[in-house]
Amino acid sequence: MTDAPGKISVRCNVNGEAVTLNAHPFARLLDVLREELRLTGTKEGCGEGECGACSVLVGGELVNSCLVPLAQVEGAEVMTVEGVADGDRLHAVQRAMIECGGAQCGICTPGMVLAAVSLLARNPAPTDADIREGLAGNLCRCTGYMKIFDAVLKAVDSTQ
Ligand code: FES
Ligand code: FES
Repeated sequence: MTDAPGKISVRCNVNGEAVTLNAHPFARLLDVLREELRLTGTKEGCGEGECGACSVLVGGELVNSCLVPLAQVEGAEVMTVEGVADGDRLHAVQRAMIECGGAQCGICTPGMVLAAVSLLARNPAPTDADIREGLAGNLCRCTGYMKIFDAVLKAVDSTQ
């Protein structure tokens, strides 16, 4: 297939599905996910790598998708918040966020969920300090963080 001028085709896997994305090589992964794939769970906050609202997993690593050019995800596995639940079954982190009131306006919530999922994948029994460090790149203007930290602890308890 011939690419449109200035665009490239990038093959990758998003939430378990093989996809081919056509966009400028420096298009932000954030925009391609939201606009091409309509995966609008990934949010834009600052647009400059400071807030974590746009967090997704690429190859299992938490990244700020506002800083990732499309060309960088060729062949990669990408997970957005839409891929966290198993069908209708919410992830333990998602359930705990609801139960603890960890989401208010919701803008930070997808990124927080992915940061917590990433943390628990690396460290299934994090301490309070581990949780604070694991979520340190994700800002929340609403909750004061305690309910989010409680939610991660609750998710840990529910999976032990
Ligand atoms: S929108 Fe990407 S880090 Fe804030
Ligand atoms: S719930 Fe509003 S920014 Fe976190």
